[in-house]
Amino acid sequence: MYAITIDSPGGPEALRWTEVPDEEPGPGEVLVEVAATAVNRADLMQRQGFYPPPPGASEYPGLEASGRIAKLGAGVAGWAVGDEVCALLAGGGYAQYVRVPVGQLMPVPDGVDLVEAAALPEVAATVWSNVFMVAHLRPGESFLVHGGSSGIGTMAIQLAKAVGARIFTTAGSAEKLARCRELGADVAINYRDEDFVARIAEETGGAGVDVVLDNMGAKYLARNVEALAVNGRLVIIGLQGGRKAELDLNQLLVKRAAVAATSLRGRPLAEKSAIVAAVREHVWPLIAAGRVRPIVDRVLPVAEAAEAHRILEASTHIGKIVLAMPKE
Ligand SMILES: NC(=O)c1ccc[n+]([C@@H]2O[C@H](COP(=O)([O-])OP(=O)(O)OC[C@H]3O[C@@H](n4cnc5c(N)ncnc54)[C@H](OP(=O)(O)O)[C@@H]3O)[C@@H](O)[C@H]2O)c1
Repeated sequence: MYAITIDSPGGPEALRWTEVPDEEPGPGEVLVEVAATAVNRADLMQRQGFYPPPPGASEYPGLEASGRIAKLGAGVAGWAVGDEVCALLAGGGYAQYVRVPVGQLMPVPDGVDLVEAAALPEVAATVWSNVFMVAHLRPGESFLVHGGSSGIGTMAIQLAKAVGARIFTTAGSAEKLARCRELGADVAINYRDEDFVARIAEETGGAGVDVVLDNMGAKYLARNVEALAVNGRLVIIGLQGGRKAELDLNQLLVKRAAVAATSLRGRPLAEKSAIVAAVREHVWPLIAAGRVRPIVDRVLPVAEAAEAHRILEASTHIGKIVLAMPKE
């Protein structure tokens, strides 16, 4: 089989479409013939050598994929060869075949084609687990997601809208802000020329937002806490603005607020399986009903993975960049 390998950590040119040893499914796993995978910010860090795969995971990049089941490992029930699936992965999506523990496998939702389905597992699992399982966003509450036009942001806006939240978001251009509004954002703030804390205070009569989903880490910590309402919940999932910052605990204390931070990739199979089960139960019906859609910026051939990484680094995309496998 072929896969994208990383010659040595570095720029996008480090990614090469290479012949590699075939994969076999282990007990409790299936082998998926990959139709498409999608690019995540974490893939850029892995390429640069900063985010090695967890023990036991494939060394090839790719945290999600869609395709057809090619083989069943020992003890697998409830799935059949030929089933169209998509999957959350700890690695290995940028390849013609990938081994998947059944707990991380999902059917392709109704109304979504097989290639588009590659854009769903990582954002659906990340947003559902953080916004709903950790922060418990409820109907009628207010929600701020930073980077609303990102893969994560486009899913977060749609899911928060579907549950009936009031949505604030940030993005860095007029085009991206407009797209966020089309997806359901009530207030879209250009972080380059407006202070989101002041705007949220103005829009909420000084109350603040109930839940924040943050990608910036240190750079936004103080301002995110300032933007929180009483009983507010801040969940940090990205460190694009650094990892170390000072936190005024008195602000948390008087607001009775909570700060959490999570990552998905290194979690044990049981936790990932619980998240995937929740995504199937809560998110898949919204997709089948057409209320939530995969937002795909473009589909490139997997051999052009380097170009996909350049686009993500330049942040000229909206939603997900999908990499399609060659048709044999
Ligand atoms: N912890 C987890 O389990 C987990 C899982 C998946 C993703 N993530 C994290 O979630 C984030 C989004 O991931 P993705 O794959 O969707 O990446 P992506 O599409 O590349 O999005 C990155 C986003 O960051 C935004 N951004 C840059 N500077 C900003 C600023 N100063 N204020 C607000 N937004 C800013 C960009 O907005 P503009 O283009 O408008 O500048 C862009 O929308 C990343 O930090 C990623 O590491 C975490």
